[in-house]
Amino acid sequence: MKFTFAVISGDGIGPEVTNQAKKALEAVAEVYNHVFLYKDAKIGACAIDEKGVPLPEETIKICKEADAILYGAVGDIKYDNNPSSKIRPEQGILQLRQELKLFCNIRPIKAYNKLLKNSPLKREVVSGTDVAIFRELTGGIYFGKKELSKDGKIAFDGCQYSEEEILRVAHLAFKAAGERRKKVTLVDKANVLETSRLWRRVVTEVAKEYEDVSLDFMLVDNATMQIVLNPKQFDVILTENLFGDIISDVATVIGGSIGMLAASSIGEKHALFEPIHGSYPQAAGKDIANPLASIISAAMMLEYLGLEDEADAIHRAVQKSLDLGITTKDLKAKNQTAALTSKVGDFIADYIENQEDSNMNFKNIHMGQSTII
Ligand code: IPM
Ligand code: MN
Repeated sequence: MKFTFAVISGDGIGPEVTNQAKKALEAVAEVYNHVFLYKDAKIGACAIDEKGVPLPEETIKICKEADAILYGAVGDIKYDNNPSSKIRPEQGILQLRQELKLFCNIRPIKAYNKLLKNSPLKREVVSGTDVAIFRELTGGIYFGKKELSKDGKIAFDGCQYSEEEILRVAHLAFKAAGERRKKVTLVDKANVLETSRLWRRVVTEVAKEYEDVSLDFMLVDNATMQIVLNPKQFDVILTENLFGDIISDVATVIGGSIGMLAASSIGEKHALFEPIHGSYPQAAGKDIANPLASIISAAMMLEYLGLEDEADAIHRAVQKSLDLGITTKDLKAKNQTAALTSKVGDFIADYIENQEDSNMNFKNIHMGQSTII
């Protein structure tokens, strides 16, 4: 089959990790006889530098025309140190979410057996964790009215939700739970916020349509604690934009490294796939960032397009790289030798192309030179 992917790799380590995802996709195309076309476009600080805006029109057009979007990261130290700057790289991704109506962000949180020792949490706490966070992505306080008084002494951020905005993401969460362990936990702050009380009412109604899925409620402060105390109690977490942003970063400690977590942002017509780590400018250009989250996001993109076997091939290669310890330094102990970003990418691509061959010499693959013996 033929697919066109918009590639918006963005800033910092974005381009390096996205390149490894492209290698994995190319290997898949080769093995499964597909044609994948890539259209690069700018977003974030690099777009501001080149075009003066974080989301150029041309990028929106390329994304709208693509079958799916592969996204890297946005952000740059020069803007982090100046939070009052009017134009910011983050506006690029926020605008794109709104423009393409990507209302549902899905963040799967899994504990890989091989990485249990990497989590600061106890082995028995994280082992077996499999949670999917469904975060509403185009509403709430992120997109509410923002104001600063003339004297600069009072600031305002409004949080608004409509029934419609809650309904569409809730249905996706319940459908997913039906295919999983059949439990949705709505995370909110219904003891304080009116918007949260609306969420409870609407989600309670939605739940009636999914008889085999149970619904419970948890306040966000408690949920943030529970996700590290006992993550296995959760199946699908459904929550609003800001709470989802916070709770999903907390949950990354379960996987042992934020470098392992990928996400999809889904709308009715478009879908975007990304590693959830940011642009990590300190590591940019050094070939040391973990590319696995970006590679896993490419697998999620193939699943979304209905290419399940192809996605599995990527997942198996990722698992193999963990089994063999062909990983970047965030997954290594201090005294262990780590693989470079590009070498992890080479291994993954190589393994996808050759995995059916049981005679493969993994030692050489490690160096990015597979030899069949
Ligand atoms: C995320 C990021 C973004 C967000 C930033 C870059 C605006 O943290 O995707 O989680 O807050 O949504
Ligand atoms: Mn975030």
